[in-house]
Amino acid sequence: MEGAPYIKSDIKEKYVFIETFGCQMNENDTERTLSFLRGPGYFKTDCAEKAGLILVNTCGVREKAEQKVYSAIGRFKELKNENPHLIIGVLGCVAQKEGARLLKKIPYLDMVIGTHNIHNIAFLIKEVAENKKRVAKTEFYATLDAREYSAHQEGGVKAFVSIMRGCDNFCAYCIVPHVRGKEVSRRPHDILKEARELAEKGTKEVCLIGQNVNSYKGDATFPALLKMVCEVDGMERVRFVTSHPKDISDELICLFGEEPKIAKSIHLPLQSGSDRILGLMRRGYTVSGYLGKVNILRNLYPDISITTDIIAGFPGETGEDFEKTMDCIGEVEFDGIFSFKYSPRPMTDAASFKDQVPFELKQARLERLQSAQKEITAKKNISLVGKTMEVLVEGKSKLSPEELTGRTGCNRAVNFAGAGEEGLYGRIIDVLITGAGANSLKGTHQKESGLLCC
Ligand code: SAH
Ligand code: SF4
Ligand code: F3S
Repeated sequence: MEGAPYIKSDIKEKYVFIETFGCQMNENDTERTLSFLRGPGYFKTDCAEKAGLILVNTCGVREKAEQKVYSAIGRFKELKNENPHLIIGVLGCVAQKEGARLLKKIPYLDMVIGTHNIHNIAFLIKEVAENKKRVAKTEFYATLDAREYSAHQEGGVKAFVSIMRGCDNFCAYCIVPHVRGKEVSRRPHDILKEARELAEKGTKEVCLIGQNVNSYKGDATFPALLKMVCEVDGMERVRFVTSHPKDISDELICLFGEEPKIAKSIHLPLQSGSDRILGLMRRGYTVSGYLGKVNILRNLYPDISITTDIIAGFPGETGEDFEKTMDCIGEVEFDGIFSFKYSPRPMTDAASFKDQVPFELKQARLERLQSAQKEITAKKNISLVGKTMEVLVEGKSKLSPEELTGRTGCNRAVNFAGAGEEGLYGRIIDVLITGAGANSLKGTHQKESGLLCC
């Protein structure tokens, strides 16, 4: 923060700076946090130096994610020294995992707010500001408090709507059920209300989120809920994440063909290509079961984008197990994979499994996965050149402000010339794909309607 271009009078008690790590759940929690803070008069700032309230929304899914959190908070120590009225709080999964221990570990921290307690933030700030307390609130509640999701998101072209909290799967490697609690579904009525409110504010694409959306249990099946969200006026594209391969139903698969608003894109985490490892992970499906679902999806919808998550070096993973994963990657040719080295997490069963795979071996396997996928992604991107695709325009490209950026239904980023065409923001337009990079496509806006693809 040395040499920061601000003066003390720039600091506003009611400016909040929030930094977010982790998954879509956390991004949505950040939105909800900001909306709970709007009532007490807070404004979001992108400049930590000006803020009277600094929040770090944390992820603990892997050890590296958790380490990032400590360095992020460390950066704010100096600001606290300069401004003793500054309030610093930690939210999210590491807050839930560590609870009051975080207050001991970080002496300048004021608040620890667990994953079920976001709606209590205004009260907790008062405890700190007026009663000079340092607070940690990490209780779990078995049922959903109506206030928890009552927040009014600001909304943009795209928004997340959470349809459930928690997870009951307890995959052997995963900390999420321990830090997010038991699975509880929101009522369709409340979800629809939030989606309508977002559409009224101009949101065009909604992504329904949950750790396992296919096990949604709120007075409607998940496909029925999706249909209702598709009927929301003004909502033009609907996505959902994450689908658990063991729970994906035929009804859901058919919906891709019935509801044009549902983007033809699915994230279906495989984790490993070895049945033995999937068993140890307690994933509840086999490789052939998984491949069967992929074949049905691809046969019905040749353009569908299928992405996945893979863990390299789960305890006990042999070279032979890993080759099976490589075979799957080659066979399926995913549109994208998110791959990670296995990271032992507290509270999880796999952390105490014998046969932990050495770091270097995990790293080598991860690199093989990533380089194989890089080629596949490049090949797939190149195959789209010459096609016209529907792109939801999100705004200016961050890297080149002369260009606009948006996403296809299959969730690929597309950049195209569009300086001065602000009127396109939030619209779904036809873009002819003219070039393909490793992570994005290039195109030109087709003013006349052309061929449609995904
Ligand atoms: N609910 C989602 C995923 C949540 S966590 C699902 O069921 O797929 C996101 C991804 O992080 C997981 O899919 C997994 O690939 C990865 N992950 C979770 N715990 C991990 C760990 N201990 N080490 C490495 N990767 C992990
Ligand atoms: Fe974690 Fe498994 Fe639940 Fe996903 S389904 S959040 S991987 S326990
Ligand atoms: Fe991380 Fe929590 Fe999401 S551990 S992946 S932020 S549910």
